[in-house]
Amino acid sequence: GRVLLAYSGGLDTSCILAWLIEDGYEVYAFMADIGQEEDFESARKKALAVGAKKFFLEDLKREFVTELIYPAVQANAIYENVYLLGTSLARPVIARGMIAIADKEGCDFVSHGCTGKGNDQVRFELAFYGLKPDIKVIAPWRIPEFYHRFAGRQALLSYAAEKQIPVTQTVAKPWSTDENLFHISYEAGILEDPNTTPPADMWKLTSSLGDAPTSPEFISIEFKAGLPVKVVVGSETHTDPVDIFIVLNSLGRKHGIGRIDIVENRFIGVKSRGCYESPGATILRVAHIDLEGLTLDRNVRALRDQFVTIELGRILYNGHFFTPEREFVTSAIPASQRTVNGVVRLKLYKGNVVVEGRSSDEGLYDEKQSSMDELGGFEPTDTTGFIQIESIRIKKWAQANLLKGRS
Ligand code: ARG
Ligand code: SIN
Repeated sequence: GRVLLAYSGGLDTSCILAWLIEDGYEVYAFMADIGQEEDFESARKKALAVGAKKFFLEDLKREFVTELIYPAVQANAIYENVYLLGTSLARPVIARGMIAIADKEGCDFVSHGCTGKGNDQVRFELAFYGLKPDIKVIAPWRIPEFYHRFAGRQALLSYAAEKQIPVTQTVAKPWSTDENLFHISYEAGILEDPNTTPPADMWKLTSSLGDAPTSPEFISIEFKAGLPVKVVVGSETHTDPVDIFIVLNSLGRKHGIGRIDIVENRFIGVKSRGCYESPGATILRVAHIDLEGLTLDRNVRALRDQFVTIELGRILYNGHFFTPEREFVTSAIPASQRTVNGVVRLKLYKGNVVVEGRSSDEGLYDEKQSSMDELGGFEPTDTTGFIQIESIRIKKWAQANLLKGRS
């Protein structure tokens, strides 16, 4: 059979590539450019040297930003209050790119190097099946002949030596990473002890607070329908979706914005410690949430927070992107964002994203109405009745408590 392998250029997927060939498969290697810092040319050479019959590199950056990241920004998607979902967001785009190539090139199988304990295996495979229900998946890290043979790093290294697979990183970093335009993740290795402080030189996408400039930088972000359409930094203006992400990332990097370190609950039920850097995404999130304060109806906001924000976070994290519930939930996003138009001015300083002001012509905010100095369309006595009616139930409850001697 012919198999399309999600190839990273690293030790694991290179060994998987060789092992699949040994097992009698014809292997095509697939890489997605989703904005990670990567030497794609040397990965291509390596895949072909190990024995891949073809190599595919797909630039998926634009669809990653516009189809996955954008709805997540509009919905303020987040997992367990902290994680901005950078890896979860990339998986559907990669899976779709793979299925397109598998279809075109007549591959009956797809394969990946995810472990049997993580989220990514679930995300990839549910996405494959959601796009092409008859695709066959080979997950070597869940095949006993594979995981028994390659238990431990040393077994992989000697197999690599036997198969003449060049091992580029002589001393492997003592953690595993996943990088794209939105973020980088660090997990496993020395990070598995949740009380181990990450070494300063682990962090790759942001400078430390100590190294961040001592003078602040001022920028503005304009949103239309909850999406960033213009970022102004000094005399520079950026309007292209991918450029906007790149420039916000570089600003976030410079000012040390968007580092987190958490223990999260994986879909399969185990807890896992992860460190993440999402510089640009963190800036966008602060700006978007702020503008919603000015422009979004109170009840729409509350419904959205409860149903869309929470559910979309869960759907993305658990790999349920190509599902009816995801279609249902994302269909509510445009309706929630129609009025989210305006400009937010920010100060970036030593890890902080400080809102300096915001403006919009949406007209939901009325200075006269909110003002302490003016009567604005209703009489103070109107509110007396409002409080009286609201208090009926509360007074009853308090009386009942007194009667029963409950405190
Ligand atoms: N824990 C994060 C998530 O589930 C990051 C996963 C990183 N994946 C990886 N293959 N290194 O989204
Ligand atoms: C893996 O297990 O392959 C990476 C981590 C994850 O998927 O959660």
